[in-house]
Amino acid sequence: MSATSGAAAAPAAAPGSAEPETVNETVVVLDYGGQYSQLIARRVRELGVFSELLPHHVALEEVERRRPRGLILSGGPASVYADGAPKLDQRLLDLGIPVLGICYGMQLIAHDLGGRVEGAEVGEFGRSELTVNEPGRLLAGLPREQTCWMSHRDTVFAPPPEFTALAASTQSPVAAFESLERGIYGIQFHPEVVHTPYGNQVLERFLTDVCGCEATWSAASIIDEQIERIRARVGDAKVICGLSGGVDSSVAAMLVHRAIGDQLTCVFVDHGLMRKNEGEQVIAAFRDRFRVPLVAVDASDRFLDKLAGVSDPETKRKIIGTEFIRVFEEEASRIEAREGGVRFLVQGTLYSDVIESGGGTGAATIKSHHNVGGLPDDLEFELIEPLRALFKDEVRAVGAELGLPERLVWRQPFPGPGLAIRIVGGEATRERLDTLRDADAILQDEIRSAGLYRELWQSFCVLPDVRTVGVQGDERTYGNVVVIRAVTSDDAMTADWARLPYDLLERIASRMINEIREVNRVVLDITSKPPGTIEWE
Ligand code: XMP
Repeated sequence: MSATSGAAAAPAAAPGSAEPETVNETVVVLDYGGQYSQLIARRVRELGVFSELLPHHVALEEVERRRPRGLILSGGPASVYADGAPKLDQRLLDLGIPVLGICYGMQLIAHDLGGRVEGAEVGEFGRSELTVNEPGRLLAGLPREQTCWMSHRDTVFAPPPEFTALAASTQSPVAAFESLERGIYGIQFHPEVVHTPYGNQVLERFLTDVCGCEATWSAASIIDEQIERIRARVGDAKVICGLSGGVDSSVAAMLVHRAIGDQLTCVFVDHGLMRKNEGEQVIAAFRDRFRVPLVAVDASDRFLDKLAGVSDPETKRKIIGTEFIRVFEEEASRIEAREGGVRFLVQGTLYSDVIESGGGTGAATIKSHHNVGGLPDDLEFELIEPLRALFKDEVRAVGAELGLPERLVWRQPFPGPGLAIRIVGGEATRERLDTLRDADAILQDEIRSAGLYRELWQSFCVLPDVRTVGVQGDERTYGNVVVIRAVTSDDAMTADWARLPYDLLERIASRMINEIREVNRVVLDITSKPPGTIEWE
């Protein structure tokens, strides 16, 4: 969804910006396309320093505007010698702030400043042994021998003149270097991954000793500042927010409610495709407990009537998306007619959405269908996006700090079109939705009891439009098959099927078959992503 804003009181953030004017200590990470670039930004934040990830080709002024305390150049898949290899704007080295190159970032520095970078015969991928020969400033206090994580083929054979080589590894004669005079540092290994045990210490050293950061940032520290901004911007206008029950919209709504109280009205559209008791939980938390003005619309008949006879997944998505917007707009105009002055719309946009829609390299584009269930760009509201600067885990931390119930804070992602796209190859009828909802409730219940809910990115059931033969008691049955899908993942781009314990699986299967008359078979999906997707359709 678009992240445009027409705010008059506060300037709209620049594309890809996480509203940098709100923090006084920032480290910019330039993204050279490495798979761990986001992770670098997250680690820096975990160490208490706000960090933004910008594309490597970003204009110099964009970096300067943020007045960063340091600059990190990420890794990337290219060779510095390849045609069209991403370059380093040399003026970045003269901003008077320390620069740390990681992997490709280090090779760029070495290449551009007169060191020797060459393609090695043998690459260095995975765990490697690092020997610190001269700790210098960057590696001071770290053990002489340590393990680190490498992922490169090109290698630095000699540092640029005036630079000190600090460490070597099995395949990297120069695995770390620095020039105190120029304030430039480089490491071949990846400090951001957990397989580099001293990685955090290297980053911490760079942030505090080298850049002089005070490291006071935390996700929760945005709460007060966002509350003030929202108050200043909204004045006495009215604000609406679409609540889905997911963590992003819930946290965004709570934050705005803290700021402006009853000037906010939340709209919760129950499309009849939610999981068991989900609607009730949202209402109980927001209306009953936090006293947030909430319009809860039971639109399930409307949605299910429209879905009658439809089994194609994309058509389902389209119908649900269109109907959702229609219902939301109707409710918004009712609120406007009743209260007047509705000027703002709250959205739970996250930093990963900001990066994916142009703030990063653009390598990871969101599939358009993932926006189904969202609102269109051309709604006539100005957007309030209080979570624009935060990663998902940071949003959960803010939610916990705001006192949201544990169930909402830790809710696994749930697709906008809900259970409709989990009834596969067939129509989402009331009866099938009830069967799927009951099966899903048993799965969630058992996974929570086993203490595994938070470890899984998603866990859910799929109901294919297939019947299988069974035997229960002395009778032959002809019933539904339920598929269990449980995956671990960091970001849904890739996922691994979760190795759930056999005894847990057995409990789940026997409960489903015993408690749900329509179900006579349970199977487990053991496909990772790729090659599979997380959802079945
Ligand atoms: P896939 O199935 O593509 O899913 O591996 C990746 C993530 O996106 C979610 N997903 C959706 N979310 N509307 C949504 O809001 C959709 O139509 C949709 N389809 C998939 C999925 O649950 C997973 O988290």
